[in-house]
Amino acid sequence: VPTVLITDKTWESTAIEAEVLAAVGAELVEAQTGEEAELLELVAQADAILTCFAQVTPAVVRAGTRLKVIGRYGIGVDNIAVDTATELGIPVTNVPAYCLDEVAEHVIGALLCMVRSFHAYDRAVRDGDWSLATGLPVVRVAGRTIGILGFGKIGRAIVPRARGLGLDVIAHDPFAPDEAIRDGGAEPVGLMELAERSDFVTVHTPLTEDTMHLVGDAFLRAMRPTAYLVNAARGAIVDQDALTAALTEERLAGAALDVFVPERLAPGHPLLASDRLLATPHVAFYSQESVQDLARGAAANVAEVLAGRRPAATVNPQVYA
Ligand SMILES: NC(=O)c1ccc[n+]([C@@H]2O[C@H](COP(=O)([O-])OP(=O)(O)OC[C@H]3O[C@@H](n4cnc5c(N)ncnc54)[C@H](O)[C@@H]3O)[C@@H](O)[C@H]2O)c1
Repeated sequence: VPTVLITDKTWESTAIEAEVLAAVGAELVEAQTGEEAELLELVAQADAILTCFAQVTPAVVRAGTRLKVIGRYGIGVDNIAVDTATELGIPVTNVPAYCLDEVAEHVIGALLCMVRSFHAYDRAVRDGDWSLATGLPVVRVAGRTIGILGFGKIGRAIVPRARGLGLDVIAHDPFAPDEAIRDGGAEPVGLMELAERSDFVTVHTPLTEDTMHLVGDAFLRAMRPTAYLVNAARGAIVDQDALTAALTEERLAGAALDVFVPERLAPGHPLLASDRLLATPHVAFYSQESVQDLARGAAANVAEVLAGRRPAATVNPQVYA
């Protein structure tokens, strides 16, 4: 019986995956910790991996001598040693587009929460403080400018929502032609121009060698001291130490982060001490609806490969060349 190793997941049930994979006669094995040592042991008996946030390292891929496919529960594949998989001829799959609405809703929600100081006012009111001053500064969103860094599927999904709020939209994406950015409803700009002109910057690139620390010290210093940053892409795209300094030194009005380096910050991390931080635990993708699409899509990719077919959502199609 083909075995599918689930390295980790953050939602409750694997009933959907079990049903989809049963159709090709495969069974699930769930890791307990998702740590490398455990995965090295379990992967030896696995025909496939399904992974969410766990690190599928080069060593884990190499130890999977029966592996036929590595399926990501999600869009980004930066936690998977894709190069090693490609070298070994193992397809890596993802689930594009299952949570475009959710991430866009999360970004707009975080932006409004920061600007309107919902969290500060809520805490204050419960403590008996009904003063307007607690949540200041509060500015008008309409008429301001949002800068979208990475104009892919999620970046483009931000546009109609931002326009609905009366925002001007600018975007930077070196791989999207200017007309495509204009057709998507945004003004194409350079990286530093985006930093300088935006009242809100939202990050939507994948994490790659090129985008690591793309939002670094120079970018953050080019941002307005009244501007807000939202990162619901990957933690390492932002230089977290430089961001911590920018918030602490009050060179930035605020940052809403859904993703961190490491995935879970230790209690007491200096970033967590900043009142200017709005933190969420990598949940931008999640809704009751999206996670069903995610489980079904991720499991279907793996089932396709186990049944001898080639899923469309293969991130390293070179393996079929
Ligand atoms: N927080 C969450 O729960 C969550 C959920 C879904 C996706 N994500 C992250 O969001 C990322 C984007 O998702 P997507 O569906 O929009 O992907 P996508 O592939 O459709 O778009 C990514 C865009 O980034 C652009 N890009 C690449 N390098 C760039 C650079 N140096 N500067 C500017 N732009 C660059 C690409 O050209 C592309 O247009 C994913 O890779 C994933 O890591 C996070």
